[in-house]
Amino acid sequence: MKNLLHDNLRQIYQSAIGRPRRELVTPALILDLDVARRNIQFMAERLRGMKARLRPHIKVQKSAELARMQVDAGAIGVCTATVWEAIEMRQSGIADVLIANQVGGREKIRALAEAARRGGLTVAVDDAGNAQDLSNAAVAAGSKLDVLIEIDVGMGRGGVRSPQEAVELAQTLARLPALRFRGVQGYEGHCMLEPDRAVRMAKCHAALDYIGSIVTQLKEAGFPCEVVSAGGTGTYDITGNDSRVTEIQAGSYVFMDNFHGNLVPGFSRSLTVLGTVVIHHGETIVLDSGRKSIGIDFVLPSLVDYPYYKARFFAEEHALFDVDERCPLKLGDATELTPGYAPTTVNLYDAYHVVENGVVVDIWPVYPRGPGHGGLLAP
Ligand SMILES: Cc1ncc(COP(=O)(O)O)c(C=O)c1O
Repeated sequence: MKNLLHDNLRQIYQSAIGRPRRELVTPALILDLDVARRNIQFMAERLRGMKARLRPHIKVQKSAELARMQVDAGAIGVCTATVWEAIEMRQSGIADVLIANQVGGREKIRALAEAARRGGLTVAVDDAGNAQDLSNAAVAAGSKLDVLIEIDVGMGRGGVRSPQEAVELAQTLARLPALRFRGVQGYEGHCMLEPDRAVRMAKCHAALDYIGSIVTQLKEAGFPCEVVSAGGTGTYDITGNDSRVTEIQAGSYVFMDNFHGNLVPGFSRSLTVLGTVVIHHGETIVLDSGRKSIGIDFVLPSLVDYPYYKARFFAEEHALFDVDERCPLKLGDATELTPGYAPTTVNLYDAYHVVENGVVVDIWPVYPRGPGHGGLLAP
């Protein structure tokens, strides 16, 4: 399925190969491969001196090609948000995949249990009923599933809410025949965007101390943790330096969007959307790259070459910017935008225009997009 899609996409986008990046049909998703390579290399070098290894979150990029580059640079595997991403990563040859999320729903659990026959899959759990469903499905599929107990460390999303809940869940897991407890996950998402580095560090250390205390209590109860998975781009160098953490789940460092901005030095923007000026009236320009072609979650996109012109509003097909009389952009001009949020930008596209030295050299599929199950359930 994936290979067919890849070949089709290459054919469909054939005419883009060899074109300069600013001469693509817009809106177009552009991956600057040199910059992405440098980001991957920089992260690998930074983590070399730390105890924690890297397990990049690929929900950001949904690309087996990028995942392979990350593994080649030393990542121990990847983590995913969905079961479909995990299946795709395993099929693409990534040996060790963590679904850093709960998997719910009969079909998804069945797909996970069947995919686990090949091994290499771990999933987060925070609920005894869900664990029971996973185990039942794995028994039916004849597989075994590795699991991490997710701990809520202050974000208020997934995760057990107390040390006692963690120990009780570990006891439940021990009774379930097809699950194997491997450790814990605690994503300190509430710390990521704290602009004051000292405050971010303090919040992050509090979260890590909490994870550490649960790891100790689990060990005392007879459940030692081989894996302690945490961290994202905003905290990678704090969490990665904590000797209790074994792996870091950073993902956005590959692209760096406006959401992550300049929070973590050393990384550059590798993902852009090319848009065309379709309307220009006085101090307003409108590009064709509205919210159906660029992620505006949390923070608005910006113009790469004109960062001082502020985005006013993103409608479906219209990106409105306030400009002044000096703005050189004319109707029909193409210009690049940095996404507000990379994961929801990528998810809008079939494929990346992969650019080197300013020219499109390849087309890489974005897969699996959207809900992600299309075709995967087909026999
Ligand atoms: C569980 C989990 N881990 C890691 C990440 C990666 O964070 P980032 O993309 O900021 O590196 C996320 C992002 O939402 C996440 O939900």
